[in-house]
Amino acid sequence: MAHDHHDHHDRQDHHGHHGRQDHHGHHGHTDVDWAVMAPMLEAQAELFAPLYRSVMAWLAKEVTEPGLIVDTGSGPGVVSCLFAEAFPGARVVAVDGSEPLLERARARAARLALADRFGTIAGELPGALGELDYPADLLWASNSLHHLGDQRAALVAFAERLAPGGTLALLEGGLPARFLPRDIGFGRPGLQTRLDVVEAEWFTRMRAELPGAVTETEDWPALLTAAGLKHTGTRSFLLDLPAPVTDQARAYVAAVLTRLRDALPDGLDRDDRATLDRLLDPGDEASVHRRSDVFVLKAHTVHTAVRSA
Ligand SMILES: C[S@@+](CC[C@H](N)C(=O)[O-])C[C@H]1O[C@@H](n2cnc3c(N)ncnc32)[C@H](O)[C@@H]1O
Repeated sequence: MAHDHHDHHDRQDHHGHHGRQDHHGHHGHTDVDWAVMAPMLEAQAELFAPLYRSVMAWLAKEVTEPGLIVDTGSGPGVVSCLFAEAFPGARVVAVDGSEPLLERARARAARLALADRFGTIAGELPGALGELDYPADLLWASNSLHHLGDQRAALVAFAERLAPGGTLALLEGGLPARFLPRDIGFGRPGLQTRLDVVEAEWFTRMRAELPGAVTETEDWPALLTAAGLKHTGTRSFLLDLPAPVTDQARAYVAAVLTRLRDALPDGLDRDDRATLDRLLDPGDEASVHRRSDVFVLKAHTVHTAVRSA
């Protein structure tokens, strides 16, 4: 999630993730247990719903009346369901390696009365896309491509599953989230900037340890072009929730900072760890649970590309 890194700070071993068994137990510190991440992924996507709706309004200018939308690496399906709502004529298929997350996606679709045009495919990407019955008119991949070892090859496989004239929309990168002023009244100012550095290093390690990892210049438009598509646009979308924030946003900020503190302790010095402890202590008036200046500011970048008709 700069990459949006809030998605992968788990130190636990990987459970039930198809095709990653060779990885199991060797490099557990960058391996993500996606099922454990479910509540966090869900809460995050729900908070970001206004941003996704803006993305969809933008996509609707390029993609008119899609028959099939595929959410590649959908996670718990919050965004998949937003697609089903934004494009009422479309069938949506959520594809993910984690069956527990897809279960949540199906349950959400049922709750929202979308089940009749909602399906899921469980399996390792990009191969699982081979199970689609039809080519996609819109293939969406949000913060999922960067979890695949060979991103260039995966984009070629994604492009091959597009219908003629179909659009691939890739959400990767943007700006790291900000939740607090530079100076919060205690600790060394600039905590979030230092957390960004630790996260960026974690991200590099996570990628290097993926099965079949290939290093790649993250020039997404160039990679989309190399996959045989025509790059049609790049736009960044802002989530701007100024202080004072809702309890939902506060809980999200606390969850992200908790993960950072617990999953990346080695990169932080003792003072910063103590600052995080204070920020996360609900009994402390200066904590993110209670202080008045908490906000959420975050940018996501989306790149679109079209398969020739
Ligand atoms: C960071 S989450 C993104 C979820 C959702 N797209 C969003 O933007 O909120 C990454 C998702 O990719 C899935 N994933 C990661 N590696 C995968 C792989 N090799 N094959 C299939 N799915 C994978 C995970 O299960 C997880 O649901």
